[in-house]
Amino acid sequence: MELNKLKEIEQSALEDIKNASNSDELTNIRNKYLAKKSELMSLMSLLGTLSLEDRKTFGAAINETRNHISSNLENKFNEIKELELNKKLEEERIDITLPGRNMETGGKNPFFVVRDEIIDIFIGMGYEVADGPEVEQDHYNFELLNIPKDHPARDMQDTFYISENILLRTHTSPVQARTMEKKQGKPIKIICPGKTFRRDDDDATHSHQFAQIEGLVIDKNINIGHLKATLELFAKKMFGEKREIRLRPSYFPFTEPSVEVDITCANCGGKGCSICKDTGYIEILGGGMVHPNVLKMNGYDSEEYSGFAFGIGIERVAMLRYGIDDIRKFYTDDVRFLHQFKKKA
Ligand code: DAH
Repeated sequence: MELNKLKEIEQSALEDIKNASNSDELTNIRNKYLAKKSELMSLMSLLGTLSLEDRKTFGAAINETRNHISSNLENKFNEIKELELNKKLEEERIDITLPGRNMETGGKNPFFVVRDEIIDIFIGMGYEVADGPEVEQDHYNFELLNIPKDHPARDMQDTFYISENILLRTHTSPVQARTMEKKQGKPIKIICPGKTFRRDDDDATHSHQFAQIEGLVIDKNINIGHLKATLELFAKKMFGEKREIRLRPSYFPFTEPSVEVDITCANCGGKGCSICKDTGYIEILGGGMVHPNVLKMNGYDSEEYSGFAFGIGIERVAMLRYGIDDIRKFYTDDVRFLHQFKKKA
C-alpha cells in the first residue's frame, strides 16, 4: 500500500501551503495537489487493484488526505484574503479628518443685483415686465417717439446700423411704442429692462453697450404727481429712506413736460461735496409726461388718455449705489472686482 506516499504528498502540500504568500500561489497549489491529474488523484486508479479490505482503508486514507489538504488550503485562502484586504485598505486610506478644499463659487455681478432689485421694486408697484428687440427698426426707435429723420436729438443717439432703417436700439423707449401697438388703446403699466447701444467712445462713464429700464404708464387722469410719487418711492427703496428727489425741467422729444430726476447726494446728504460737484444732488434718470404726439401716433386718444414715462440707466444706479467709478468694470469680468460683491455664504 502506498500510505507512505500519501503522507509524503500531504506533508509536501502542507509545506507549500504554509509558504504561500498570495492567492495566485494558492491556486497553483490547489491545481498541483487536488486537480484530476494530480499525483494524489492518480492514486485512485490503484484502488481497483486492491483487495476489498485494502481498498476501503486506502480509499478512506486518500479522502482524508484530500480533505486535509483542502481544508488547509481553504484556511490559508481566508487568511491571505484578509491580509490582502487589509493591505488594500491601508494603501487606499483616506484621511477624513483633513479639512476639505475650498470650491470656488461665482457671485452675481452687481449689475444684475441692481437690475433685479429695480425690477422687484416696480413689480411691487404692480408693473408688468415687457420685452422688445435689441435690433430695432428706425421707426420704433425714433419715428414713433416723435424723433423724425431730421431731428437734432438724433445726433446724441448715434448707433450701429444694420441697414438704413435697422439699427441697434439706442434706448429702451421703442418698447413704449411696441407696447402701445400691442395694447391697442388700453391702459398700460410696464417696465422694460434691456440692453441699449450707442456709438460712443468708451470711457469711465460711457460704454457702447449699456442697459436701461424703461417705464410707461398710460391711463385716464395720469398726471405728473403720479410720476413724482413713483420715482420717489423707487429712489427711497433703492438708495435709502433718507433720499429726497427733485425734478428739473429737461427736454426729450417724446415727453412734454420732460424732467431730469436727481436724488440728494448720499455722500454729503445734500450739503454739497466733490461727488455731487457741490450741488447736493446727483442725477439718476430722465422722464416726463408722454407727449400727445406719441400717444396719437401709437393709437391712443390724447384727449382721453395721458401717461408718464421714465428711463433709468442700470449701470448708473449700480455705480451710485456701490460707489463704482468705472462703467467698464461691469463687463470686463475681473474677479477682483466681482469678488467684492459676492454674498457671504
Ligand atoms: N430714452 C431716454 C434716453 O435714453 C431716457 C428717457 C427719458 C426715457 C425720458 C423715457 C423718458 O421714457 O420719458 O436718453
